[in-house]
Amino acid sequence: MVESMNGLLSDAAVVQRVLDHVDNQTSDLGDTIWREPVENYHSAERFAAELALLKHLPVPFCPSVALPEAGSYVARVAAGTPLVVVRDEDGKVRAFRNACRHRGMQVAQGTGCTKYFVCSYHGWAYRLDGSLQYIPHRQGFPDIDDENHGLVPVEAIERHGLVFVTQDQKIGAGALAGLDDIPELLTPDQRIFASSENISDVNWKLNMEATLEGLHIKTLHPESFYPYGYDNLNVVECFGNNNRVTFPFRRIEKLRDTPAESRKVAGKLTYVYHLFPNVTIAVLSNHTGITISEPISPTRTRFVNYRLTNPGEGTNDDNLARAKRDAGFVSDSGGKEDAAAVQAIQAGLASGANQHFTFGRYEKAIVHFHQVLSASLQGLPRS
Ligand code: FES
Ligand SMILES: [Fe+2]
Repeated sequence: MVESMNGLLSDAAVVQRVLDHVDNQTSDLGDTIWREPVENYHSAERFAAELALLKHLPVPFCPSVALPEAGSYVARVAAGTPLVVVRDEDGKVRAFRNACRHRGMQVAQGTGCTKYFVCSYHGWAYRLDGSLQYIPHRQGFPDIDDENHGLVPVEAIERHGLVFVTQDQKIGAGALAGLDDIPELLTPDQRIFASSENISDVNWKLNMEATLEGLHIKTLHPESFYPYGYDNLNVVECFGNNNRVTFPFRRIEKLRDTPAESRKVAGKLTYVYHLFPNVTIAVLSNHTGITISEPISPTRTRFVNYRLTNPGEGTNDDNLARAKRDAGFVSDSGGKEDAAAVQAIQAGLASGANQHFTFGRYEKAIVHFHQVLSASLQGLPRS
């Protein structure tokens, strides 16, 4: 079978398309170019609209394996809103606005495992389902009605190994159908071996763009990625609102003599999945990297990073060691070059040289990203 349900090519078909590109010195091409106004990388108005969209859509919050057992929680800011997501006793994932119903203190920080969320200010306690469990010095609050003083819930749903959160609405049938476009990217056996956050003075979209094309492999990464890969040789697939960009390694050519049905892609290519709007999942040779780009301001972004072993590689120590080496190589070499490039672009906006940026036909996934973003912003209900 060439295509899966969501329209993505099978591994064998991707390998064949890569080998054809190698032979013909070609790469996947989109139908159209896109001109993105430069003001969209620093305008407060555009930023507010994008934040509203991030609250309106089901957006990945963390991998499911970040919540391995009852009481496991992750607290962080998503689209400007402090949230806490927790696995309840019944295994269901729940999400709440991270604010105590007494005087608003955050009830959870970072990650951990707990039976109750106990506010560190005056000790109000909440169960994992968000309900109010205990108020110290209760006689001081004669009129408090417990039923209406639980943590305020937001919608959370698990799909494809990810927890999605929607902040300003119920997840409707349309949004659920959109999630069905996504393949099973993450599996329960994967192990998180590193998680981190870093902040950079860039618009959140610049980082997405740097991840979604291979046109810069030779010029920006001459000694890091290029010796192992190709310049401008990618398979680019759009599925639903999302994209998958394949970055092959030169050693993929060893598969020429392998029958198509036996061609294994592990170690031969990197799949970068872009889940609209702000998440990338890169399945690399020996590990999987998830990056969630959380906009802080029009010119500042927090990157939430998870590093996991690859599907099927679970907790074996050898695999874990290989995954850590792989992750170290990627972030120490080419990753730093990409980060420096997008910071330079953001700083360069002040030059006033450009009214728009032009994304060409080899930058097909970025064109699709901006097409979907632009259409989604227009379709957003006005408040
Ligand atoms: S603010 Fe949480 S107990 Fe007072
Ligand atoms: Fe790059």
